[in-house]
Amino acid sequence: MTAVFITGAGGGLGRKLIARLLATDWCSRIVAADITPPTDLSDGRVTPVAGSLLHPDGPWRAAMAGCDAVVHLAAQNPHTDASWADAAASIDMTLSVYDAAAEHGVGRVVFASSNHVMGGYKDAPLASPEPGFLTHEIDPAPGTRWHTGREMMDSTAYAAAKLTGERALVALTRRVPAMTGINVRIGWVQPGDNHPRTINISGDAVFDSADEPQDADGRRDLSWYRNMWLSNRDFAELFAAALQAPAEGWPERCITVNGVSRNRGTGWDLAGAERFLGYRPQDDLYAALGL
Ligand SMILES: NC(=O)c1ccc[n+]([C@@H]2O[C@H](COP(=O)([O-])OP(=O)(O)OC[C@H]3O[C@@H](n4cnc5c(N)ncnc54)[C@H](O)[C@@H]3O)[C@@H](O)[C@H]2O)c1
Repeated sequence: MTAVFITGAGGGLGRKLIARLLATDWCSRIVAADITPPTDLSDGRVTPVAGSLLHPDGPWRAAMAGCDAVVHLAAQNPHTDASWADAAASIDMTLSVYDAAAEHGVGRVVFASSNHVMGGYKDAPLASPEPGFLTHEIDPAPGTRWHTGREMMDSTAYAAAKLTGERALVALTRRVPAMTGINVRIGWVQPGDNHPRTINISGDAVFDSADEPQDADGRRDLSWYRNMWLSNRDFAELFAAALQAPAEGWPERCITVNGVSRNRGTGWDLAGAERFLGYRPQDDLYAALGL
């Protein structure tokens, strides 16, 4: 039986993960930490804990006692327009959460990293047409730069916070022998239904245009975002697997995997997540779009 501490538990991914964990027979308890934690869940296994992770000794820290695993989802402005101040706050939170996990003897930490750590591979000279070329072995290239149709975007600050979280988790698991870690480079899980037709070149689900871009750059950018779609079902299975997978056979006590669906021809490598976690995604954006 596993007791799971989730940060950012009131957010889109937090709620989807809680729903999945409550359907298992192995999750005994969920501590749902957030500034605004979910309080509408009637299941007695969920304990909401309100407060900001920016307070390192807030009530959330003591609430981690007895938890076997941590899923760290919280971030300040977890969107591509995050400022450097947002990124710094997210890094502060991540380091506090890791510190608390070490203090409480947590055995497994799962960090919600992002595709934006590899955003530089969207464009030349790093881009490749090879399916699966984005493996965990190649160097990070933080920050995606693209035109939304309205403005230029650059996610470097957001991506830098995610890369820092990845590296800090590697360092932590080297220091704490009883801990294993997984950096999940999540593709794109939109809020709610998360239908592929609303994936668009804004890089953010708040943009309301699903129009096909007319120029080559726009079409390339749309492919980049479509190829990283992660369905609700695959997201839930991936994170459930990340909480349960044994670490035997991993190259290090902290691994990095991609979290995307089985989108036809995607550049995101899925072999790592399958080999290390047993993740077998079911969904394909292109099949869902009838393409
Ligand atoms: N949704 C995606 O497609 C996607 C893709 C890549 C990475 N991620 C990462 O996954 C994580 C979750 O994403 P999401 O889509 O659920 O975001 P979300 O904005 O829906 O949820 C984030 C949650 O973090 C909480 N939070 C923010 N600051 C906090 C603080 N100081 N203390 C405590 N809680 C705080 C918010 O209240 C919110 O509920 C984020 O770290 C995001 O960067 C998401």
